[in-house]
Amino acid sequence: MAKYKENKRKPHREGKLHTVGKVENVPAGRGATVKLKDGTEVALFNVGGKFSAIENFCPHKGYPLADSRLYGGIVECDLHGWRFDVSSGECFTKKDCSLEAYEVVIEDGWIKILV
Ligand code: FES
Repeated sequence: MAKYKENKRKPHREGKLHTVGKVENVPAGRGATVKLKDGTEVALFNVGGKFSAIENFCPHKGYPLADSRLYGGIVECDLHGWRFDVSSGECFTKKDCSLEAYEVVIEDGWIKILV
């Protein structure tokens, strides 16, 4: 099996809600990089008003997915075109390269991510 890029900035699951910003700061059809306090990162997406979050770095060569282009609920890595479901983290390009997905909760206009 080919070796892919290890994500050293993958969040460690603690079962904690992290408040990361206001809903209006992430327009529909866009992604945003969320840096957690411990330096790990999550890619946050707004797909038609529905927010979702996955690991930020592409397992191919580590490009940040928050900076890549969204096609509906699919993000396509800008570097070489690997495609991921932004809700589940499923990788459509390589079956064994799916990403962790994190639950997003909206409360009073605040975006909170369960990590
Ligand atoms: S870094 Fe190559 S497809 Fe993402």
